Order: sequence, then C-alpha cells, then structure tokens
Amino acid sequence: MEDRIQIFDTTLRDGEQSPGYSMNQEEKVKLALQLERLQVDVIEAGFPISSEGDFKTVKAISNEVQNCSVAGLCRTRKPDIQRAADALEKAAHPRIHTFIATSDIHMEHKLQKSRQQVLEYAVEAVEYASSLCEEVEFSAEDASRSDPEFLYEIFTEVINAGAKVINVPDTVGYALPWEFGELIRGIRENVPNIDQATISVHCHDDLGLAVANSLMAIRNGAQQIECTINGIGERAGNASLEEIVMAIQTRQQEFDHYTTINTKEIYPTSQLLTDVTGKQVQPNKAVVGENAFAHEAGIHQHGVLKNPMTYEIMTPQSVGINSNKIVLGKHSGRYALKERIKELKYKLNEDQIERVYQKFTKLCDDQKVVREDELIELVERVINQESDQKMNRTASESETTKSYSHQKVQ
Ligand code: KIV
Ligand code: ZN
Repeated sequence: MEDRIQIFDTTLRDGEQSPGYSMNQEEKVKLALQLERLQVDVIEAGFPISSEGDFKTVKAISNEVQNCSVAGLCRTRKPDIQRAADALEKAAHPRIHTFIATSDIHMEHKLQKSRQQVLEYAVEAVEYASSLCEEVEFSAEDASRSDPEFLYEIFTEVINAGAKVINVPDTVGYALPWEFGELIRGIRENVPNIDQATISVHCHDDLGLAVANSLMAIRNGAQQIECTINGIGERAGNASLEEIVMAIQTRQQEFDHYTTINTKEIYPTSQLLTDVTGKQVQPNKAVVGENAFAHEAGIHQHGVLKNPMTYEIMTPQSVGINSNKIVLGKHSGRYALKERIKELKYKLNEDQIERVYQKFTKLCDDQKVVREDELIELVERVINQESDQKMNRTASESETTKSYSHQKVQ
C-alpha cells in the first residue's frame, strides 16, 4: 500500500521571509489560488500577529481558498494564537501552527527559558489553540540541534494536549540526511502516542541538503513535507516543492509514496511566483530552471532528438512546460542543426547544410548561443550566395557567348 505524503506549502510565509520576496495581499491571494490549483494539502498563508497586512492577507486567503487547509503561524503566546484563530475564522479547513524553540542554544540565548518552561509553554499553547481550532500543528524550532530525548518528551506532551501534526524543523539547515532520517525514526519509535499525529518535516537549505533531508525523512516515516515553490525561504531557502514532488513521482518504486500534486501546474506556479516577486530562478534550477529541459551538447541533442528518454528522466510536459529546448551553441552538432533547419521548413541539400554549419560554428566562436533569427539569416545567406553565383555564372556565360558571337561576327 502506498502512503500519501501531504504537501504543506510555506511559500507565502517562510518563502516571503527571504529578503526581496515580500508580496502584497493581492499577489498572495493570486498565488494561494494557484497553489490550490497545484493541489497542495496545506497553504501556510502568513504570520497573522506579525503585521496588520499579514493578518488581512491570511483572512483574505481564508475567504478564497476552499480545497486546501489554510495555516496561520504563531508563537506559543495566547495573543498570537488568538490572532491566528481570528485570521483563519472563515477558512474551510483552518490550521493553527504554533512553534517554540527546543534546542539548548535557542532556549538559553534567545528565549532564556529552561526546558521545563518551554515544555509548559508548548503544552499550554497547543491546549489553547485546540480550543479554537480542530487542526493544530506544533513545531519544535531547531529540532535537528535539539536533544532527541527532549523532543520525544515535548512531542508526547503536545500530542496529549491535542496537536494533530508535530513538525520537526531543520531550522538552520544543519542536519545531514542520515542523521535527519535517524531523528525521524527515533521520534516514530520513542513517542508513545505518535500514531495520533502526523509527522512533518521542515528543512532549510543552508548546506544544499533540504530536499535530501526531506526525502530521508519520508523513508523514515515522515508523512508531511513543508516546502516552497522555487525553494525560496529564509537564508538559502526551504526544500523546493517541485524537487520533492518530482523525486517522489520519478522514482516512485523507491518510495512507495505519492503526493496528490497536479504536477502540470508546477511550472505555471513557479512562473507566477517569479512574475510576482520579480526574482528569477537560476537557469540550472532543477525542474523549473530555464535549462532544466535544454540541451546544447551535440551528443545529447542527437540522443534527445531520437528519444527524449536518453537524457530526460521526466517529460517537460509532466511539469507544465510545453517542450524541451534544443539550444544551438558551440557544443551543438550537425544533427541538431539539420533538424532545426528542417523545422524551419527549409529544404537544403547536404552541401548547403555543411556550408550553414561552417558559418554557424564561426558565429559560435563569437557568441554563446545562436538565435533562431540568426540561423535563418545564415541559411538565407547560403541560399542567396548560391543563386548569386548561379546568376553570375549565367551572366558570365552569356558574356562569353556574346564575345564568342562577337568574335564570330568579327
Ligand atoms: O525554520 C523553522 O523552524 C520555521 C518554523 C517556524 C517552522 O520556519
Ligand atoms: Zn523555516
């Protein structure tokens, strides 16, 4: 039996916390509706107590979104929780997400609280939140640097207090995949009431391991993954939704898990986010980057043109991209050039193609890629050169004939 992995999207909360990514209410509502089309399970819409704007935005998203849970973040303080509950009042499926740090370094330097105090705050918060909302999630901030024994204790207590989801964040992106996997397994095996809650993880990408850590967590029993579109988020970002979803789908047999994401909406969602924020993803970004389905090397182009599966492990269409891209540049070979010329509806013989190819490689010495209009120009030059030569030949032939006849006449 395959297990369903719930996708908790935090683009509008953690994602928005990254510098330069702030969005206004209208933009966030638009994105939330797109996330609904993408069929994420939970949309974390904001941190209602953090500002009037965030409160109103969470409220507006709660009004609009029907098919996903809408979560509002809050600390373990009562006013925070009340504010989140108010913002979520109209949500079809509201979720209060409350958090407190559990690592010694955070408790000592940031909170200046003992373990016992943190435990009490957490339990009281979950009890209060549960009195206002059926779905309560509790996060142990900096869990990956926390004492596992303390995590077992706090998770046991918050589940008893009503938490339906317990979240294990790798807040500072410090964990290694095998360590993180073990942490999740430890929680599954040592929290006696864990069957009454969903295990969630929330990984940051400071070491570029957020997706790997999330996948290891799934192998060890995590049932919800927190992630963002294009991997945006605090510092180096969060685990990228599109990478996790496509890893599970592409390597389905390895996972025995599935998500209900409509993968064809991945690229449109990524594009909407870049349009709204004005921040592009790097060209080599997995799944949604400009080069994710682009091929320039001659050998690859040849393979892909014969059968895309030679160099593509998923189809561009499966993530909502129309087609792959054969980029003509200095690494391209004759085969791709010939195919492109055919696509452009030119019928050239082998000799003409060779001449276009020679001109093309010269052009590639000076520039990185050859655009379609530039290729057309090269093709036209070869064709025109030939007809010029033909005309010159005809002209000089008739000149010769004339002079012959002249000569003859003379
Ligand atoms: O990174 C983190 O620990 C968080 C929590 C609030 C879930 O974003
Ligand atoms: Zn985070």
